[in-house]
Amino acid sequence: MRKEYKLLMMNRLRCRIMNAFCFLSVLCMLHGFCIGDPLHKEGKIDALTLWEYMIVENPYQNYPTWPGKEGFYESTMPPGNILKLYVNDLALDTIVNKRGVFPDGALLIKENYTDDRKVFLITIMYKAKGFNPAGHDWYWVKYKPDGEVRLEGKVDACITCHVGVASNDYVFTGSIK
Ligand code: HEC
Repeated sequence: MRKEYKLLMMNRLRCRIMNAFCFLSVLCMLHGFCIGDPLHKEGKIDALTLWEYMIVENPYQNYPTWPGKEGFYESTMPPGNILKLYVNDLALDTIVNKRGVFPDGALLIKENYTDDRKVFLITIMYKAKGFNPAGHDWYWVKYKPDGEVRLEGKVDACITCHVGVASNDYVFTGSIK
């Protein structure tokens, strides 16, 4: 009798453990659905995935702009193109709270306009942890407005200039410290 009781209790315990596992995996799945999987896996990302994300899944025109750079403003670089600079929420948090370094998933999107206010280039920086630790894990892309990718990845042309502000996590527009 005692043995049977013991067995019964063991089975119950097993059941409970299984239930807990089920519950946890459902929670994990829900988390995945709600929060969304990260855009990259271990630093593997590409310009087309990013474009799909920022145009279709989470259109960047709805993002906040860099604080103090609302709307159009002029580039400090000759020939002084007109710019707009959008930042996702992760990036905004870093800028506003002066966190010193952008986190995994931060996205900065700069539109470059002609004098008659037509977008002719979109340049972005996306932080993908593990992609390029030596370059602060920034993934660089230069798109045409229709999404055609001109440059992507560890783009020397971008890095050699932006490295001048490496101490500000490679960002020119304002101090994040
Ligand atoms: C010769 C220097 C130079 C080169 C090359 C350059 N940038 Fe920049 N970039 C700047 C400056 C300066 C700013 C600040 C805005 C301004 O005044 O134009 C900037 C701003 C940006 C920003 C907004 C975040 C920030 O740093 O303020 C992004 C995104 C960006 N550049 C992406 C790129 C990409 C992608 C490339 C390569 C395709 C590139 N840049 C090449 C100088 C450069």
